[in-house]
Amino acid sequence: MASTPHCAEHLNAESPFSSQGFTAKSPRMTQALLTPDAKLAAAPVVEAAAQPGGQSKKVFVKTYGCQMNVYDSERMGDALTRDGYESVDSVEAADLVLINTCHIREKAAEKVYSQLGRLAKLKKQRNAEGGDLMVAVAGCVAQAEGSEILRRAPVVDVVIGPQTYHLLPEALNRARRGERVVETDFPAEDKFDGLPAAPEKSIRARGVAAFLTVQEGCDKFCTFCVVPYTRGAEVSRPVDRIILEAERLASAGVREITLLGQNVNAWHGKGAGDREWGLGELVRRLAQINGIERIRYTTSHPRDMDEALIAAHRDLPELMPYLHLPVQSGSDRILKAMNRRHTAADYLRLVERIRAARPDIALSGDFIVGFPGETDADFEDTMRLIAEVNYAAAFSFKYSIRPGTPGAGMEDQVDEAVKSERLARLQDLIAQQTRAFGRDCVGKVVDLLLEKPGRNTDQLIGRSPWLQPVIVDAKLGEIGDIVRVRITQPGTSSLFAEVVE
Ligand code: 5AD
Ligand code: SF4
Repeated sequence: MASTPHCAEHLNAESPFSSQGFTAKSPRMTQALLTPDAKLAAAPVVEAAAQPGGQSKKVFVKTYGCQMNVYDSERMGDALTRDGYESVDSVEAADLVLINTCHIREKAAEKVYSQLGRLAKLKKQRNAEGGDLMVAVAGCVAQAEGSEILRRAPVVDVVIGPQTYHLLPEALNRARRGERVVETDFPAEDKFDGLPAAPEKSIRARGVAAFLTVQEGCDKFCTFCVVPYTRGAEVSRPVDRIILEAERLASAGVREITLLGQNVNAWHGKGAGDREWGLGELVRRLAQINGIERIRYTTSHPRDMDEALIAAHRDLPELMPYLHLPVQSGSDRILKAMNRRHTAADYLRLVERIRAARPDIALSGDFIVGFPGETDADFEDTMRLIAEVNYAAAFSFKYSIRPGTPGAGMEDQVDEAVKSERLARLQDLIAQQTRAFGRDCVGKVVDLLLEKPGRNTDQLIGRSPWLQPVIVDAKLGEIGDIVRVRITQPGTSSLFAEVVE
């Protein structure tokens, strides 16, 4: 995977970060979330907060994949905290290991089974010493494979799909009674309503930039993609829940929220006066919340980029000038085979409209090389599109067959060596564009949100509006401050800046 250092991870993209305990570390920084929730009392409760002998229960959460998994891990972590679990940062220290998985490409899914193999050894060792280890598998692999996981990996006690996380405490209870549990239905109720609000302490611990899931699932059915099957149909969370959650985040010190959804710009809901809102209107409303200084959203589909959202980019200083807008290919023939329902020209026109509204916007994208039937000429079309758009960052992948998707049955699968060669060329071009983007930032005066300590104690790391990590002198301010700086120099994966007098 090509991942430029300052780029937002695509929502569905697999990333190699690991979470420690349930403060899942995203590529950005520790992020936060929760929902204040009237139905909290009705949520399932795990029996004992402590184990016999007064020891607390210890959980290690490992998160693979996209930011939505990071968010979900945080929410499950909050539920486990309420049930008396303490977060630990190693498998060895845990009596429950929760793996939140990604199914987007074959490699991502296979990682889960090798991890389960290692856990089986650990459990055997524990059992030999008179102890035990519980293992729960959540996420998209859980949804896609269900009871197959129990068959392939006897170490697993609970398999739980993304729509049933509110049932996790109850599932763990059942597993403690000896049952092997599979929860992969798509229940009518909203899982977020059944998960507890994060305590203010947890939000603060996760930092000043937080994720907030507003939409889940996908109805687009791109022919390469498993998401419509693992995450289900598009569902938008209601406006009042989102506002309440954003207000809670703000009152716990969060300054920046990233709205998440597999198709985040397909979000819609009933706003003030019962009017139908799209993401543009939602962002406008969230920008009014005291304390929320910055808003981002990811991931968007080109077809759902409506006028109101583009206008929000034009009008709202709170909406950061960064847009992750995957196109996947620059060839109309391949776009059609992918069922993207837009052409390369549609995409380029859209980019033009967005740039007319917000000239300094940084664009990032996702690309798949070697989709079935992709010829050299198709690939050159993709390279031309990239050259024309000039991206600030992008993620790119070799096509990976996903069982059950239409792409898996297509003829003309592309040779691996050809895929590798195309990927290398594409990533080279993107890397050049990313470097040029960084160089162009030198001399610019920008506002940074100071997010975390730097590697050296006299440094802090902030984020530019374009999502780049920027290293500054720690004397410049406190974490959570927004400071004005001048970019002085590009580094390998970040920029350097100095205070503006
Ligand atoms: N093979 C390769 N890449 C894929 N993606 C989704 N499905 C596949 C697949 N089967 C990529 C797309 C998507 C990103 C999250 O992952 O580029 O936008
Ligand atoms: Fe997958 Fe396409 Fe939906 Fe994105 S829009 S989640 S790539 S099916």
